Amino acid sequence: MSTIESILNEARVFPPSDAFASKANIPSFQAYEALCAEAEQDYQKFWANRAREQIVWHKPFTQVLNDQKAPFFEWFGDGELNVSYNCLDRHLEKQGDKIAIIFESDDGEVIRTTYHDLHQRVCQLANALKSQNIRKGDRVVIYMPMRTEAVIAMQACARIGAIHSVVFGGFSAKSLHERIHDAGAVAVITADEQIRGGKRNPLKAIVDEALSKTDDISVRLVVIYQRTGADIEFNPARDVWWHELTKNASSQCEPEWVSAEHPLFTLYTSGSTGKPKGVQHSSAGYLLGTKVSMQWVFDYKPTDVFWCTADVGWITGHSYVAYGPLAMGATQVIFEGIPTYPHAGRFWEIIQKHQVTTFYTAPTAIRSLIKLGADLPEQFELSSLRLLGSVGEPINPEAWIWFYEKVGRSRCPIVDTWWQTETGSHTIAPMPGAVALKPGSCTFPLPGISAAVIDETGQDVENGKGGFLVIKKPFPSQVRTLWSDPERFRTTYFPDEICHGKYYLAGDSAYRDKEGYFWIMGRVDDVLNVSGHRLGTMEIESALVAHPLVAEAAVVGKPHEVKGESVIAFVVLKGQYPHGKEIEQIAHTLREWVAKEIGPIAKPDEVRFGENLPKTRSGKIMRRLLRTLAKGEEITQDISTLENPAILEQLKYPTK
Ligand code: PRX
Repeated sequence: MSTIESILNEARVFPPSDAFASKANIPSFQAYEALCAEAEQDYQKFWANRAREQIVWHKPFTQVLNDQKAPFFEWFGDGELNVSYNCLDRHLEKQGDKIAIIFESDDGEVIRTTYHDLHQRVCQLANALKSQNIRKGDRVVIYMPMRTEAVIAMQACARIGAIHSVVFGGFSAKSLHERIHDAGAVAVITADEQIRGGKRNPLKAIVDEALSKTDDISVRLVVIYQRTGADIEFNPARDVWWHELTKNASSQCEPEWVSAEHPLFTLYTSGSTGKPKGVQHSSAGYLLGTKVSMQWVFDYKPTDVFWCTADVGWITGHSYVAYGPLAMGATQVIFEGIPTYPHAGRFWEIIQKHQVTTFYTAPTAIRSLIKLGADLPEQFELSSLRLLGSVGEPINPEAWIWFYEKVGRSRCPIVDTWWQTETGSHTIAPMPGAVALKPGSCTFPLPGISAAVIDETGQDVENGKGGFLVIKKPFPSQVRTLWSDPERFRTTYFPDEICHGKYYLAGDSAYRDKEGYFWIMGRVDDVLNVSGHRLGTMEIESALVAHPLVAEAAVVGKPHEVKGESVIAFVVLKGQYPHGKEIEQIAHTLREWVAKEIGPIAKPDEVRFGENLPKTRSGKIMRRLLRTLAKGEEITQDISTLENPAILEQLKYPTK
């Protein structure tokens, strides 16, 4: 894994080839600059023009941006549309028989669904949900395997104006419960089981456990998709099989026309407190962001076979599986499994088999595949590929070059896309026919995205200096609020300090080089990025202190070769400092406990015990010292404010 220094010393530049640029949607840097200039001149008009071109409106909008209640911005507020109509119905006449989804299951079964069939299945589920009194504005939690049905569930909600909240299948019953509770969901859509990498995950049982925790009376319906036929507990008062519910449902369903600002979904993500944030997105602005980025960044062509490997439980799976590709009328691959099962060439095999043209994945997957078989891609015919993409964390130049040479055969540009759950769609990313690439840099902002790097007083820093990444002007696909917590929305993203309440604060630090390229340096808050998944240190700490043995805990990240970052927990036990075998046992118990409380992705890699944590005289934990200890480095920082220096020695060594 490269260091920040090696990223900053990266000097290689990869201009677009003539062959790629000549066919690209944005074929030159001048064309990119022209779009930026148009946005610069009048950004509201720029977005209004795009919204008229891209979206089928049931009622056209007359207002563009409403910033009266800033930072609670509204876009295209008096317009009406339906997102599912824009993703399905609009394609039926011209390309109803085009394959929308090539689904490949964990064990290799392939199911192709046309736009016509997808539309029918979405309408059936939408009607079925309506028959159960699910209405516009109701919240529906989706806890599903990565299958076509997950997309159908999301689209069916969008069709009737219900607000979905997808929870990643790897989250625990407790995390699921928290999200169901916070959203006030009336229904949950799930499956009997999920299969990934040959392993079964009992989703329905986890839903049952989540619903048995306290007073979730808001949930009155659980729809179960039968994936494996496993035995499940069936509660007739609440549970219903997907296939039975939809069996006699009509395959026509008039869409619910909603206002542009109607919430399409909420998606929970980690922040710097223990409580996950319900990021709320709009209908029109969000849809617009996914569409323009499909065209600008993914250079979408109707002949493409698009494959984004993200699970629909994350924002990437929302924007570039469930919505963006369908809104473009694309053919896309959806894969249920994992990259290494039954062999480490599975991704390459799928690309070969389905003739994938555009492949979008995460650096952590790339790094793990390099480790498991750096030469494996050579054994597959990957000539269908024309564009590669990376998302979720900084990509180290070594992984970039491998991806470029071994997978893209030095022919395919790599779009390194910086964005977040909160931005809804790409915000800083190259247009591959226009921008010369530098490995490790996400290059330039999309037109209409006023990204900048500022210091703590809110001033732009000069190129070459690091600072806070912000977006200065509102843009259509940005987060609208946090579900049931508008104050937290304001103070988190538009804080008075640094941003003067005006700019969107991303939570990342960044740097621009002398040519203005953006380089993302990582989070500035207490958020970790483990295998591209966002985890709050406070969330893990709260889980740890909830264990009866634990008195206090502090969690930090440590650079990790494959995962980007790994979780290191420093723990003070209520009883005596453990010795001998006990250390191993308690560490194991606590790791499993975190997996059960949050989900396996949050399991600490290491648990270290101490009689105390390093604290200032006022009792504040000195996390920067813990970060140094976690890395195994010598402490060179000033420790004059540290009350208990002796503790550093005790916390120095890993106790796995
Ligand atoms: O730190 C940045 C990192 O992932 C964070 C957003 O995480 P999440 O909301 O889960 O969304 C991930 C998928 C869009 C950011 O604050 N991040 C995301 N993409 C990149 C990145 N860091 C560097 N380069 C990227 N391309």
